[in-house]
Amino acid sequence: MSHFHYQDGELYAEGVPLSRIAAEVGTPFYCYSTAKLTDNYRAFDAALGGLNARLYFSLKANSNQAVIKTLAGLGAGADVVSVGEMYRALKAGIPAGDIVFAGVGKTRAEMVEALKAGIYQFNVESPGELRTLNEVAVALGKRAPIALRINPDVDAKTHAKIATGKSENKFGIDIEHAAAIYAEAAGLPGIEVKGLACHIGSQLTDIAPFKDAFRKMSDLVKALRAKGHTVERVDLGGGVGITYREEQTISFADYTTAVAENFGNMGLKLEAEPGRSIVGNSGILVSRVINVKAGVSRTFVIVDAAMNDLIRPTLYDAYHQILPVRQPADDAPVTRVDVVGPICETGDQFAEQRPLPPLAPEDLIAFGEAGAYGAVMSSTYNTRPLVPEVLVKGDKFEVVRPRQTYDAIIGQDILPSWL
Ligand code: LLP
Repeated sequence: MSHFHYQDGELYAEGVPLSRIAAEVGTPFYCYSTAKLTDNYRAFDAALGGLNARLYFSLKANSNQAVIKTLAGLGAGADVVSVGEMYRALKAGIPAGDIVFAGVGKTRAEMVEALKAGIYQFNVESPGELRTLNEVAVALGKRAPIALRINPDVDAKTHAKIATGKSENKFGIDIEHAAAIYAEAAGLPGIEVKGLACHIGSQLTDIAPFKDAFRKMSDLVKALRAKGHTVERVDLGGGVGITYREEQTISFADYTTAVAENFGNMGLKLEAEPGRSIVGNSGILVSRVINVKAGVSRTFVIVDAAMNDLIRPTLYDAYHQILPVRQPADDAPVTRVDVVGPICETGDQFAEQRPLPPLAPEDLIAFGEAGAYGAVMSSTYNTRPLVPEVLVKGDKFEVVRPRQTYDAIIGQDILPSWL
C-alpha cells in the first residue's frame, strides 16, 4: 500500500489529510512518511540479508535529523560526504563507528575532524588524497581505516549529471591503477587499508551496469588477494533507481543476485550506501496554485513552490508526478498545462504540457517522489525562505524543520564599515 493515498476524496500522508497540514504550516512544505521510510529501509536491508552487509544511509539524499534518527532506529549507519554531514549523523545518534566518509575532495580540516571522531571508513578517491590522509593521520598519531574507491569504467546508463563510473568522470581511482595504489596504501603508516568501494551512478534502472561493475570489483578483490593483500570490505555504492513515472526499475531480487553472484562466499563485509531508494518515494512536496494563466499557446499553472525548493526538474529534466490534493472525479476532463513556479527564470518549471485535471487558484497539489534530493538541494534564491519539512507517523504529524524566517536570511548579511 502506498502511504500517500486518496481517502475520502483527498490525498493523505498515512492517516493525515494533507490539507490539514497545509492549513497549519502553510505552503509549500515537504512531507515525509515514517511508515514508507521504514518499509523501504527494511526492504533494502532484507535484500542484502545473509550477505554480511550493512546499510549506510546516504545523507546527501535527505539529511533532516528526524529522517536520520528514524533510520538510525532501524539500524542504519551513515554515508557522509562532508564534515557537516558527519555532524548531522552524529547529532542524530549514529555513532562515529557507523559512519563512512566518501567524496572526491576531502580537505585536510575535514580529515582531521573525521579522524578525531573515529569514523568507520574513509573512501579514498585518488593517490593524492591517500597521501594527504596518511600525513594527517600520522600527525595525529592515528591510522585511518580506508577503502579505495575504484572507478570501474562502466556506463551506468543514467542521466549524464549523475553517472559517476566512467573513466572520464572525476570519481575514484582508475581500475588499471588500483593494484599499485592498494600496495602503496598497505605500506603507509597512517593508513589501514580495509578494502574497496565503487559507485557508478544514481537512479540506475538497469541491472546490467551493476553486474559489470560488481564483476570487475570482484575480480579485483581476487587479484589483490592473490598478491597477498588483505581485502576485508567492499562498499557497493548507492542503491537502486526508483519509479518516478512508470519506468521499470531494478528489482531487489535482481540486485541481490548480482551482489551474491559476485561477492557471495568471499568472506567479505559488504556495505551499501542507498539514499534515493530509502527516501525518494517517502516524501512529497505540497504546493498551492497561485494563479492559472491561459496564454496564447500554453496554459500556465503558477504554483507557490519553485526551482529553489525542488530543483530536479530543471537541473536533470526530472519527471515528478503531480497529484491534485483534492481527488479529481474519474470523468474530470484533462488538459495539458505547464506547471511553473514564481521565479524569474523560464527554467523555473516543474512540468511541461502535463495532462492534468482542472486546477484553480488556492488548490493544493503534491509533487511525488520528492523525498530524495529535494529539501537538501533547496536554496533561498529570490530570497525565498527554505520551506518546512513535516514528518507523519500514523495519524500524527510534526514539523521537523520550520519555515525559515526572512530575518534568518537577510540577517546573515553584514554591512561593511564604510556603509
Ligand atoms: N554513494 C555515493 C558515493 C554517491 O555519490 C551517491 C550519490 C550515493 C551513494 C547515493 O546514491 P543513491 O542511492 O541515492 O542513488 N542530485 C541527484 C542525485 C545525485 C547522486 C549523487 N551521489 C538527483 O537529484 O538525481
